[in-house]
Amino acid sequence: MKPTVAPYPATRLRRMRKSPAIRALARQNTLTPDDLIWPVFVMQGKDDETPVASMPGITRKTVDRVVKAAKEAHALGIPAICIFPYTSMEQRTEDCAMAWSPDNVSNQAIRAIKDAVPEMAIMTDIALDPYNINGHDGFVESGEIMNDRTVEALVKMAIAQAEAGADILGPSDMMDGRIGAIRSALETSGNQNVAILSYTAKYASSFYGPFRDAVGASSALTGDKKTYQMDPGNSDEALRLVERDLQEGADMVMVKPGMPYLDICRRVKDAFGVPTYAYQVSGEYAMMMAAAQNGWLDQDKVMLESLLCFKRAGCDGILTYFAPAAAKLLQA
Ligand code: PBG
Repeated sequence: MKPTVAPYPATRLRRMRKSPAIRALARQNTLTPDDLIWPVFVMQGKDDETPVASMPGITRKTVDRVVKAAKEAHALGIPAICIFPYTSMEQRTEDCAMAWSPDNVSNQAIRAIKDAVPEMAIMTDIALDPYNINGHDGFVESGEIMNDRTVEALVKMAIAQAEAGADILGPSDMMDGRIGAIRSALETSGNQNVAILSYTAKYASSFYGPFRDAVGASSALTGDKKTYQMDPGNSDEALRLVERDLQEGADMVMVKPGMPYLDICRRVKDAFGVPTYAYQVSGEYAMMMAAAQNGWLDQDKVMLESLLCFKRAGCDGILTYFAPAAAKLLQA
């Protein structure tokens, strides 16, 4: 198809870029604090935080500190927080039983945040890796990740999180059938109003390195996650996964990582028109922070630009470690 734009000089496209006011009128996509979900790392203990070396500015926090951070995030207009537990090697077992303990550190954090900031939506992560001796998202038997046995455990984990007060469950494990199993368990346990944001198109990515550091999984993980997370060369498969997860009862879908996968975000939004989210993961955060710390990039500007681009790609929201910093700038 030929473009229908009239030739120069009748059309001067720069006219619409002339001033901040004209650019504001013409802008198709905007970023607001409403678009942000803030991932936080919670650890055992009291009134303490420890820095994550590969994520400058990010700390693991004890439950009381996470509650304080949640209050601040809520005041900045951030609608949701996502809880990830830090676990030491001693807390990891072959049967991953801590994953569905009502008293694990995630569930403690959920209850404490619900109590202190009831207006804030709380999201969780469902996968066995923080509690698994070998760092995998599922049970391993003779080197194989066992799908169905894992799904049974994920269901127990989901119900424990829902009972603790989680609003949005985030299955990040990539097992087959987990969304349907979790959805029907939520229905029959009186938790039918709990939403599922499925990590639907989650790629086997090298951009998760700093996160595995943050949650204590780097030294635990044996091998890679390529038999369950997606191959970075694939795109059509993401659409099949979205279709499947929606049929099984997901309310929202996610593409992960974010910036290298914006084409997938756009395809998902165009094909399904459902609530679509991207996870700007730890490695993306680390890259931008490293460049900013060297004085090679302007941290505030690349942060806001990167987040706006998710909106342009069709996302309704973004999980990002930049959430409080971005919300602060957007409020000013
Ligand atoms: C684990 C999980 C991972 C992330 C979120 N949930 C890591 C992995 O799959 O190994 C990564 C998040 C990030 O890199 O910021 N199920």
